[in-house]
Amino acid sequence: MPIRSLGPRHRDRISTHLTALDERSRYLRFGYAATDAQIHRYVDMIDFEQDEVFGIFNRRLELIALAHLAHRDADPSRGRAASSEFGVSVLPNARGRGFGRRLFEHAMLHARNRGVETIFIHALSENTAMLRIAKGAGAILERAGSESAASLKLPPDSFASHLDEVLGEGAAELDYQWKLHALRPAGDRDPSDATAGADAVADEPDPASEPADESSQAAFVAGSRARRA
Ligand SMILES: CC(C)(COP(=O)(O)OP(=O)(O)OC[C@H]1O[C@@H](n2cnc3c(N)ncnc32)[C@H](O)[C@@H]1OP(=O)(O)O)[C@@H](O)C(=O)NCCC(=O)NCCS
Repeated sequence: MPIRSLGPRHRDRISTHLTALDERSRYLRFGYAATDAQIHRYVDMIDFEQDEVFGIFNRRLELIALAHLAHRDADPSRGRAASSEFGVSVLPNARGRGFGRRLFEHAMLHARNRGVETIFIHALSENTAMLRIAKGAGAILERAGSESAASLKLPPDSFASHLDEVLGEGAAELDYQWKLHALRPAGDRDPSDATAGADAVADEPDPASEPADESSQAAFVAGSRARRA
């Protein structure tokens, strides 16, 4: 299943995905057992201009896997290079099928193509699956008690890395439109009919009106902000 970039109009779907996570998953994702209200605040605070959010939809267009790549610009005055922080969640019944790893690989490609030098992941030290993904990609792990930090240096972008990204986005958009089409009732598939479609697709505007590469505030970090808000 292709990985698709998400924008502000997907906030409801993002909230639905995150509030479907059980208490333990929320704890692993945010570093604390976020309440529904805290999740809604986190989703409201996502800055799609600055960051990148992407996910995997099943055939019913349910968001079964979601990743947030929060970007931090370079600050030459402090000798700081551009970096990104990665946060991810996969619905429990979709785990163990490689979606988490694929989302991380997608994040690596995306960050690399935007000149990011390092990706960081903050995870609880008990989070074996997340740390396996990071380690498998070559990240350096540093454990500080119950929390671990992983950092991965990215290679510079190349023609091939940009081509990979463009082809992947094209495939994801085709797949998404196909699923939208399949969800519409058979007699209701005229794309010019603005009222066509089931409730599941009612919030979908013309895809041409939205750039495919929109971007999103930090994962673990923004979770803590929502907690304080
Ligand atoms: C972490 C998470 C995203 C992994 O998603 P996933 O789709 O199940 O992961 P994958 O199928 O890609 O598996 C990745 C690796 O973790 C391993 N793994 C998966 N589930 C595991 C588990 N319960 N215990 C130990 N290892 C596990 C896999 O074997 C694989 O390792 P390998 O390739 O070396 O064999 C998912 O468990 C999740 O959503 N957890 C709750 C939120 C969270 O922890 N987010 C990360 C903090 S930001």
